[in-house]
Parts: sequence; structure tokens; C-alpha cells
Amino acid sequence: MENKRTSFTSSLGFVLAAAGSAVGLGNIWRFPYLAAKDGGGLFLVVYLILVLTFGFTLLTTEVAIGRKTKQSPLTAYKLIHPKFGWIGALACMVPMIIIPYYCVIGGWVLKYFVAFLTGAGEAAAADGYFTSFITSDHEPIIYMAIFLLATAFIIYLGVDKGIEMVSKILMPVLIIFVVGIAIFSLTIKHPDEAGNIRTGFEGLKIYIIPSLEGKSFKDVIVVIMDAMGQLFYSLSIAMGIMVAYGSYVRDEDNLMKSINQIEIFDTLVAFFAGVMIIPAVYVFMGREGMSASGPGLMFISMPKIFMEMGRVGTAVGLIFFLMVIFAALTSCISILEAIVSSFMDRFGMSRDKATVTETLIALAMGVLVCLGYNKLYFEAPLPNGATAQILDIMDYLSNNIMMPVVAIGTCILIGWAVKPDYVIDEVVKTGTKFGRKNLYKVMIRFIAPVLLMVLLLQAFGII
Ligand code: PHE
Repeated sequence: MENKRTSFTSSLGFVLAAAGSAVGLGNIWRFPYLAAKDGGGLFLVVYLILVLTFGFTLLTTEVAIGRKTKQSPLTAYKLIHPKFGWIGALACMVPMIIIPYYCVIGGWVLKYFVAFLTGAGEAAAADGYFTSFITSDHEPIIYMAIFLLATAFIIYLGVDKGIEMVSKILMPVLIIFVVGIAIFSLTIKHPDEAGNIRTGFEGLKIYIIPSLEGKSFKDVIVVIMDAMGQLFYSLSIAMGIMVAYGSYVRDEDNLMKSINQIEIFDTLVAFFAGVMIIPAVYVFMGREGMSASGPGLMFISMPKIFMEMGRVGTAVGLIFFLMVIFAALTSCISILEAIVSSFMDRFGMSRDKATVTETLIALAMGVLVCLGYNKLYFEAPLPNGATAQILDIMDYLSNNIMMPVVAIGTCILIGWAVKPDYVIDEVVKTGTKFGRKNLYKVMIRFIAPVLLMVLLLQAFGII
């Protein structure tokens, strides 16, 4: 079995595939917003510290588990310790819940890309366009299905010819697009209502200069919690993905180096997404415009901003939405692969059969998510105070509840049940040094589980 498992053909292939998973909608529609809200550079510094400690610990753990067991999430945890098989089951359910709604959002991005491509950018920027699109009968379902089928096709092609190949092409292009739009964003100028010129550089200052102004101790805690929640989601941990990808890493590859590169890639893209978005939002919408994140930012504010830019706006919008498609697609393939590899390892299915099975399940659930804005519309209250439709409920369950539970379980398994050396030995077996070994031990046993517990309690609205 071990010998037959396919693998990434190079460590670069693994790094780009894992970075492709990590770089997603979160980097683009949530990171910049949190940074602007949480005191600019203050958030950036806190985030960076957490990447190097908390993020590093969880990412290393999952990739090492994958490579050591050569199993996908559903079977890996049980192999490590018979009492911990439940983590695998939960870690496999998370991507099964995420993939339908991720494809629905992917479909929305595709729709906006098509709108900008066909010269309908103006219409897409008009008030009410987004709501009327997502509440319409068939269109969201069709776009979701296209996005899902494209993902399924790449997974069907396999680890090296599908995932690795696509990541090696899309990720470098994505970097060029993000940096290109970021530079453009710094050059824009526009008068505000009073006729004063606002510039992209002023927006950049809001983003990167740390501001502690008016911040109490409690606010600083909020910044830390925001950064941690964002990081956790951004690195694609606690949903089996990094275990699945880790299981395809060759035994001779240097894990430490790859993990550092993935973290740098993900953080740089998030940073540049901020340089791309914050100055543009500031110039055209002022500070008030910065309160939008998520779909509101991506599908309402951004199209308006592109149209304000005049003639270049259509081109910039087109590149922007193409870049978001790349980011979402490389994340989506990692979600599907976590499930498909689990089905293959657990039930002995072929890749084709596992892909078709999960695609059909995701398609059915995706239709339900779309109908959540149409025939199945309701407003449900969540414990954290938000009102939710089907999409939000699935997002809440997977991200806020199940993922922290998976991560806490992983910390207990590695930190206490089998001991941190399980992971450390896997990392150093190629003769590489484990740079932050003591930090790792303290993090995995004590600090990470406590931080994750706080995240979980926050999700339940307890703190
Ligand atoms: N890490 C991705 C991001 O930052 C999100 C993601 C979620 C990826 C779920 C895979 C699975 O947007």
C-alpha cells in the first residue's frame, strides 16, 4: 500500500499545492478587513507572531501526521492511536460540509468574472444586483455546478497530474496578479465629497502603521482572537487537508523548509491582498467603506470601486475576479482531495469512484445551499448573535465548532497521548534540524489547546 501511494513530484509541488489550499477567500475578503478594523500594523504584528508559533505548530503537526502514516485523515488518526479515530471521522466531515458552500461562493465569483468579461460590469455594480442574483432560481445553481465540476475534474486527474500541475501554474500567476493590482491600488487618487483628494498611499498608512489609539486592554485581546481565528482558517488546518497533502510528501523532502515556505506564501498573499484592497476602498469609499468584509466587500463594494475607476476599472475588475477564482479553485481542490483520499483509503474505492461519489453528494448539498436564498429561505439566530441562512449555518458548524474540536483533539493526541516526539522524529528523519523544538513542545501541549478552547467558547457565545 505504502509503495503504491502517489506523491507530489517535488517539494515545490507540495509547497505550491499547500499554499494553494491556504490562499483562499479568507486571505482576500477577511484578512484586509480585520487588519483595518484592528489597528492596522498592530494586527499585522500579532498575526505574524501567531503564524510563527501557533500556526507553525498546527501545520507541522498535520503535515507530519500525513507523511508518517501515509494515510488520509479518515484513517490516519486511528492508526496513530486506536482511541483517537473519532478525530479522523470529524476531520473528514468538515470538508464534506465546507465543499458545497465553498462551491456556491466559487460560483458567485465566476458569475462576476463573466459579468466583467461580457461588459456587464456596470450592471454588476448596481444596487441590488448581488441580492437579485443569489436569490434567483437557476443561475446560482448552474455556476455552483460549473465550479464543482471543474474542481472534480482536477481531482480526477490525480495528485501529480491534477493538483500539483494546476497549483504550479495558478499560484505564480495569482502572485503576479495580487502584486500587480496592489501596486496599481497605491497609485489611485480620487476626491472625497468635500473635494479633498484621497490617495492610495494614505490608505496604505491606515493598513500598515500600528495604531493603539483608543485601544483598551480588552480591545487588544479582541485583536489577538481575531488574528488567531483568521490564521486557523487561513492555513487550512483542522479539516484533514494538510494530513492528506502531507501523505503525498516524499520521505526524502525537507518538511521544515516546506512548512516555512507555505507560511510565508500564505502570509505574503494576505498582506498584499490588504495593499490591494484597503487603499482602493479608502480612496473611493472613505473609512466607512472599510467596514465591509466577506460577500459584501467582494460582490458589492469591489464592483462599485472598479466602476469608479473609469475605463481601466473593467480590466482591473476582470483580473481581480480571475485571481479570486484561482484562489478559490486551488482551495476547493484541496477540500475535495481530503474527502476523496479518505474514501480511497477507508473504503478501498478507486479515485474515479470516490470523486464521482463525493461530487454527487456535494452537488445535492450545493443545491440546498443555493435554495437557502430562494425557496428555503429562513432566518436562524446563531449563538454568537448573527442571523443565518443554510450557508452561514454550515460555515458556523464547520469553522467555529468542528474545526477547533479537531484541533484540540489533535493537540491532546500528539501532546499527551503519543508525545510530541512522534512529530519531531518525522520532521528530523531527513537530517534536518527542528528549529523551534522546545517552542513546539510547549505549544502543542499547553498553549495551543488553551487558545483553541478560547476560540471554541467564543463560538458558543460563552465569552
Ligand atoms: N484557507 C482558505 C482561505 O484562507 C480557506 C479554506 C477553507 C481552504 C476551507 C480550504 C478549505 O480562504
